[in-house]
Amino acid sequence: MTFNTTQLKGIATPAYIYDRELLARTLAAIKAATATNDNYIVHYAIKANDNPEVLSMIAREGLGADCVSGGEIRAALDAGFPASKIAFAGVGKADWEIRLALEAGIGAFNVESREELEVISQLAADAGREARVSLRINPDVNASTHAHITTGRAENKFGIAHEQMIATIRLAQQLPGIALTGLHFHIGSQLLDMADFRALCLRINELQELLDAEGITVGNINVGGGLGIDYDNPDLHPIADFEAYFATFRDNLSLRTGQLLHFELGRAVVAQMGSLLARVLFVKHTSTKDFVILDAGMTELIRPALYGALHKIENLSAAGRGDAGELRRYDVVGPICESSDVFAKDYNLPPTQRGDLIVLRSAGAYGQTMASTYNHRPLPKAFML
Ligand code: LLP
Repeated sequence: MTFNTTQLKGIATPAYIYDRELLARTLAAIKAATATNDNYIVHYAIKANDNPEVLSMIAREGLGADCVSGGEIRAALDAGFPASKIAFAGVGKADWEIRLALEAGIGAFNVESREELEVISQLAADAGREARVSLRINPDVNASTHAHITTGRAENKFGIAHEQMIATIRLAQQLPGIALTGLHFHIGSQLLDMADFRALCLRINELQELLDAEGITVGNINVGGGLGIDYDNPDLHPIADFEAYFATFRDNLSLRTGQLLHFELGRAVVAQMGSLLARVLFVKHTSTKDFVILDAGMTELIRPALYGALHKIENLSAAGRGDAGELRRYDVVGPICESSDVFAKDYNLPPTQRGDLIVLRSAGAYGQTMASTYNHRPLPKAFML
């Protein structure tokens, strides 16, 4: 990505900048990779980035929405996602959120426990409505990613144990106000090895055979999200490998006649179009290290502190200063009063000085949405460029 520094100089930092053109190309790539399958429905996981302009661009492309709160359902409806294409997931749905979703007539509740099923049944019956329900089954598949973002193991809090699937389906079939329409899965996030998705497909095939034996058919299979992106080389791979991802399901998942296959992609849709723009406040020299202290910190981008994630860092002001490719080693840190407020240690940057404009790349997903006001800081603004 080439950044227009003259344009960026006018933006007060810290702020997110989003590349509209790259988002459009990413959405086109998703469309192209699913064009041969009219039974594939791609939902966008709003938790990754809920910027209203981003949401309406995605809604206009015809994607559905994957929501995890009442607030996200409202944001999805405001952005123009049709209610019928909204899936509502989450282990802990509050009564008001369930009522809101019933009222809106969403496409599916992804239900994570018997207890939740019973509450939805009651609230639906009270409202005189029927809730379309997908049961989230914990497939007990071990995905190769950071422990904080793997979700499909038996020990995780998510979903219904697969051994309890049939009993829970039987319960759903008896409860008033519930229409059992599908099964839902999600094994984790930032997955780059297609073998993980293949393992999920094989587990779903086994579970579908169990369903066949019980004479149960469901119209919808939802395989969740999780496709990863290249944080190390955002310019080399600005668009995730959607072809390989969708082909994995095409090649390994046996769908029953008429079944719809749903996906819930978040990161792969929006991560690469976003950067966090920051300015250097100070370059502090100590006897052991040089620190680049930014005006952005873990309050704007928490992923490094929370998951040890590394976002590529570039100094936009250094270009053209004639340092002839010289690199120095810095710890790049934020201003927050926490030792974990570090973006990168021993990171190579051109000679850097106060006032330099810095970008932290691949920050379009789980950046702005995870920002906080810790230290009484204002939430970062975003600019669509
Ligand atoms: N569906 C479900 C049920 C999910 O829990 C998630 C993400 C998604 C879909 C979308 O996953 P994606 O395609 O974005 O991988 N904050 C973390 C990521 C947390 C993901 C939570 N669930 C991070 O910054 O890496």
